[in-house]
Amino acid sequence: MTETLPGAAIPNPTDEAAITAAVDQAIAAIAGAGSLDELKAVRLAHTGEKSPLSLANREIGGLPKDQKAVAGKLMGSSRGRVNKALADRTAELEAQNDARILLVETVDVTAAPRRRRAGARHPLSTLQDRVADIFVGMGWEIAEGPEVESEWFNFDALNFKPDHPAREMQDTFFVEPPEAHLVMRTHTSPVQVRSMLERELPIYVLCPGKVFRTDELDATHTPVFHQFEGLAIDKNLSMADLLGTLEHFTRQMFGDEASVRLRPNYFPFTEPSAELDIWHPGAKGGPRWIEWGGCGMVNPNVLRAAGIDPDIYSGFAFGMGIERALMFRNEVGDMRDMIEGDVRFSEHFGMEI
Ligand code: PHE
Repeated sequence: MTETLPGAAIPNPTDEAAITAAVDQAIAAIAGAGSLDELKAVRLAHTGEKSPLSLANREIGGLPKDQKAVAGKLMGSSRGRVNKALADRTAELEAQNDARILLVETVDVTAAPRRRRAGARHPLSTLQDRVADIFVGMGWEIAEGPEVESEWFNFDALNFKPDHPAREMQDTFFVEPPEAHLVMRTHTSPVQVRSMLERELPIYVLCPGKVFRTDELDATHTPVFHQFEGLAIDKNLSMADLLGTLEHFTRQMFGDEASVRLRPNYFPFTEPSAELDIWHPGAKGGPRWIEWGGCGMVNPNVLRAAGIDPDIYSGFAFGMGIERALMFRNEVGDMRDMIEGDVRFSEHFGMEI
C-alpha cells in the first residue's frame, strides 16, 4: 500500500508527469489491496482530502486562467481513472467475499446429524402426575407439606402413642438437636393434619411427596421414597365413599377390569383401618391381587387434634407408594434402578403420563 507522507510536495496540476505518477501510485495501491478494509485505507490515502490528487486539484483555483482548462481536464481524467480503479477493485473484492461466505457457510445436506439426548422425565414423576391428574379430575386439590416435619404432626396428632414402635430409631430419621422434636417425615399423613388445620371444610386433598425411613437400600427398599395421601373430610362420609373413590381411581389407573379389596388392619390415625389390595388386570404372569397401601376412616382423635367436631364431620384417608406402583405396573424388579438416575432407564417409559 502506498501512503502519502505528510509534507510531501503537492504535485502541480499542470504537470502531467507528476500527476500521472500519482495516478499510477494510486492504481498500484488499489490493485495491491487484498481486502475491503485495506481498500478503504487506500481510498483515503489516494482520494481523501489530504491525498496528492485532491491537494493538486485544489491548486487549480489559483492558476492563471489559461492553464485552468488544461489542469482541469488533466485532473478530471486522472481522478476518474483512480475512481474507476477503486470501483472495479471494490466489485472484485466483494465478489471474492461473497464466494468465500458461500463456501464457508455451505450446508452439507448429506452430513450425519449430530444426535443429542433429549433426556426424559423420571417415571416416578410421570406416575405421580398421573395420580394427581385423576384426583384433580374428581375435583380434589393438591396439598403439600414439609419433608422435615415436627414430631407432633408426624406422630402425636396422628394418634401415635408415645411408645409406638414406629417412632423408634430403626424407622425414623430424627433431626438434631433432639429437643427440636423434628423428624424426616416417615409418611405423608402429617399433611392430613396440616390440611385440616389450614383449610376450610369440607376438605378433599391429595398430598404427594417424599418420605424417609431408615431402611437399607436394596432391591425392595429405599430410605427415600414417594407416597401420595388422600384425605376427605365432609358430613356423612362413610367407608362406602372410601371404597367408591379408591375403585374409581384404580380403574382410571389400571383399566376397567381393575378393582379394590380391603382387608382389616391397624393404623393409629384411622378407625376402622384397612390394607388396600388392588386387582391388577395387566400384571405379568396373569391378573392378581397386589398389596398397595393403607386406608381407613379418620380416627375421631385425629379430627379432634385438628379442631374438627367428630360428631358433625367424618372423613376417610388412604396412603399408597409410588415406587411400589412402578414396580408392579411396569415390572421393575429392582428399586435401585429407580434411583440411579441413568437416563436410559427413564427413556423406556416415554414422556406420557
Ligand atoms: N401413612 C400410612 C403408611 O405410611 C398409610 C396410610 C395413610 C394408612 C392413610 C391409612 C390412611 O403406611
